[in-house]
Amino acid sequence: MADDRLRIAPSILSADFAHLADEVAEVAPVVPMVHVDVMDGHYVPNLTIGPPVVRSLRAATDLLLDCHLMITDPRTYAPQFLEAGAESVTFHPEVDDDPLSLIHELRERGGQVGVAIKPAHPVAMVEELLPHVDLLLVMTVEPGFGGQAFMPEAVPKVAEAVRWRAEHRASFRIQVDGGISHATIEQTVRAGADTFVAGSAIFGAEDRAAAATELARIAAEARGQALSR
Ligand code: DX5
Ligand code: ZN
Repeated sequence: MADDRLRIAPSILSADFAHLADEVAEVAPVVPMVHVDVMDGHYVPNLTIGPPVVRSLRAATDLLLDCHLMITDPRTYAPQFLEAGAESVTFHPEVDDDPLSLIHELRERGGQVGVAIKPAHPVAMVEELLPHVDLLLVMTVEPGFGGQAFMPEAVPKVAEAVRWRAEHRASFRIQVDGGISHATIEQTVRAGADTFVAGSAIFGAEDRAAAATELARIAAEARGQALSR
């Protein structure tokens, strides 16, 4: 049975990096995790965070650290993020020749492991991996930057993944990432997502905790309505 509790995952990409510990402390009372967007300037045209930042965050917060690796060499670097204290690492599997062996290696190291699909990638592209992962990340923007517009055309892939999971008795969680806001989260809940990454909608708000709580409230209400249909 899949763990489908609703979780809001603030993306620190939209936080003030000069005050990262304070920014994370603001949301810590109301969320279980933060999402750490790792970009290498190759997989995406942007450079962000490396393992030393995750090590410092680990010392500064008890929140789960969920690393999203938008990098071309997760085989080298994903283990380093686990060693730095991340609970989960998610990578884009098309960059590796043998993603299944990497999933197994990372799980043996004690990590939760996810695979991510960009807007152009169908669920079918990762079907062989889904029985072996803890998480499927369905991107709802092109990876690379925070603050982009939500792509509703990606939402049917969430529903497809939910059906696939039921048919194959798999148990991965389903995360949506990109453009998630008070206006867009509801449709992803209805499609069956359980984990919602939000960067600008939370760290762009005056009161971050209130913004995260409101996202959680909208998600819970949408889930309730979806279940009672
Ligand atoms: C985009 C990242 C996202 C990003 C989301 O490549 O994977 O996690 O931080 O930011 P918003 O919520 O602002 O779209
Ligand atoms: Zn992300």
